[in-house]
Amino acid sequence: MSSKLRQIVVTSALPYANGPIHIGHMLEYVQTDIWVRFQKLRGHKCIYVCADDAHGTPIMLRAQAEGIAPEALIERMYTEHLQDFSDFGVAFDNYYSTHSDENRFFSEYIYTQLRDAGHIRTRVISQAYDPKAEMFLPDRFVKGECPNCGMADQYGDNCENCGATYAPTDLKNPVSIVSGEAPIEKDSEQYFFKLEDFEDMLKAWFDDGHVQTEIANKMNEWLDEGLKDWDISRNAPYWGFEIPDAPGKYFYVWMEAPIGYMASFKNWCEANGTDFNEYWSADSKHELYHFIGKDIARFHTMFWPAMLHGAGFRKPSAVYCHGFLTVDGQKMSKSRGTFIMARTYLEHLNPEYLRYYFAAKLGPGIDDIDLNLEDFTTRVNSDLVGKLVNIASRCAGFINKRFDSKLSSKLSDDSLSQQFLAASETIAEYYDKREFGKAMRDIMALADKVNQYIDEQQPWVTIKDEVRFSEVQDVCTIGLNGFRQLIILLKPVLPRLALQAEAFLKVEALSWADLGDNLLDHSIDRFKPLMTRIEPVFIERMIEATKEDLVAEQKIQQGSGDSSIEPIAAEINYDDFAKLDFRIARIVTAKRVDKSDRLLQLTLDIGSETRNVLAGLSNAYQPEDLEGKLTVMVANLAPRKMRFGISEGMVLAAGSGETELYILSPESGAKPGMRVS
Ligand code: MSP
Ligand code: ZN
Repeated sequence: MSSKLRQIVVTSALPYANGPIHIGHMLEYVQTDIWVRFQKLRGHKCIYVCADDAHGTPIMLRAQAEGIAPEALIERMYTEHLQDFSDFGVAFDNYYSTHSDENRFFSEYIYTQLRDAGHIRTRVISQAYDPKAEMFLPDRFVKGECPNCGMADQYGDNCENCGATYAPTDLKNPVSIVSGEAPIEKDSEQYFFKLEDFEDMLKAWFDDGHVQTEIANKMNEWLDEGLKDWDISRNAPYWGFEIPDAPGKYFYVWMEAPIGYMASFKNWCEANGTDFNEYWSADSKHELYHFIGKDIARFHTMFWPAMLHGAGFRKPSAVYCHGFLTVDGQKMSKSRGTFIMARTYLEHLNPEYLRYYFAAKLGPGIDDIDLNLEDFTTRVNSDLVGKLVNIASRCAGFINKRFDSKLSSKLSDDSLSQQFLAASETIAEYYDKREFGKAMRDIMALADKVNQYIDEQQPWVTIKDEVRFSEVQDVCTIGLNGFRQLIILLKPVLPRLALQAEAFLKVEALSWADLGDNLLDHSIDRFKPLMTRIEPVFIERMIEATKEDLVAEQKIQQGSGDSSIEPIAAEINYDDFAKLDFRIARIVTAKRVDKSDRLLQLTLDIGSETRNVLAGLSNAYQPEDLEGKLTVMVANLAPRKMRFGISEGMVLAAGSGETELYILSPESGAKPGMRVS
């Protein structure tokens, strides 16, 4: 057991209140939650606070699009977000909103402290303005042609085609995405935070190890380029807090969002009789950690420490960045069905599968984390169901049926129990250092040991031997005590499974300090399966449901119009088109694919050769109706390995979703193998 009681405040980034939580977000909240639960399990005082990030232009405009007040939108989002988090087992001590009195108070306080110390100055700048909507436009709300390469439909901050960065006023033929009008340039006075005043402080702070090396390197590059003033104000109309003594000017959302951490903590202090200053004063001895994604590092490692320092508060003990979640090796994608909402996931799968998988893949660095859906299935089934839960199910049956649910009164061999205890210190260190992957690896190695022990002892054989019969109780007692220790070690990751296991073992809530004890001469409950396997079809259904979410989301974004018409994709040039080789194909055979509820396996004749293609047509066609038909296929698509085999091309079909699909077919006279252009 670690010696000193630590007093820690932990935060995760505040999710925007303009959309639902997705599994990419969840990577962060699960990472933080595991760390917090671990600290609590070790007996430390650890307070985990978060909030919705409820201000800013996107939220204002989304509320307008939905025809509701921003207050109503953020209230609905708040409820949904909190439900998603709690269903994923993310246990905040306080979940609040930046649209709160506490946040207004601290934002005004910090701003006036900075202003009175001379860290704020004003300047007149020229910005894009929508004359029709009568508002200044954030960079992302202006689109036009890239000034560098000419690519159409680029945002006002950077070009997705050539990577150039620029101001929205540099775009050619710019339009406001709010009204569709061409924006004009308009001058106005803005308030700036003089970051350069904090250059030396920041340099020293980075050198002092408060951020990961990769991040410190990046920040030092920025320091070397020279620190620019940061514009912390926005013109009305804006959804947020008005700046004191500056009518019509509002705090930029990124200035007040991190202050939301303090506001949420203050709100918790009020409810729990804790002294806020003890944690946030400049000389506080307590710890403060921010968990964030690498995309928002600059806000948390430059602006935020400078603001805190300038206003006389403490700085974070550390800012921990993580990488981005990819799915099957690629950025989460709406059209591939991998932009999975937390709610959609919950409708199809147990959240603890994902918590475990994230834990198994997470380390202390900023590398991206890949959710490979096949690996996810295999790993959860083999580790959690095949190894962990299996120990309980192998032992409980004998204890329940043959020994009246009672464990032996002593451990006939305590070597496993001792090994676990010895291993637990390293595992604790791994947790504390955010080396969750290493912790999971070591824990599963221990689970392997228990299973090997049971395999060697063969209780299913001894149980039939009248003389050695009672040995089975000893073996299963050792097995179940091993299971109990594993549950303690995994409790930060699998809180719900731990709760069920505690009920099954008939014990009080377990904590890290209980690792050294054993359950002896003790009655357990009847065993019920604690966790079931993931079937591939659950994943397929989740992906399909995700594609349907996309259609619903588009409806909101388009406001009106026919939502079944997909928007036209980004423009391509002739060379892109000429790369595609379409051929007439005859469907020779069509068969259902075992275990898949959407795929048909097609054998296609394209004149020179035959192709094996897996197509998601089984909800739209009977296989026998397709046989003999002519259709069009993409013949030069690289073969793709799918769960049910290799697919060598794609058949063209019109429509969206699963049931409304129409394959394309040529006029009569076309022959298999003809090129379509
Ligand atoms: N509102 C700001 C944060 C303000 S903190 C004072 C914001 N919100 S967000 O909703 O866009 O993101 C919340 C957190 O989720 C961020 O830390 C972000 O990095 C993280 N993630 C969002 N998408 C993610 C992935 N695909 N993968 C991993 N983390 C991701 O930024
Ligand atoms: Zn460009």
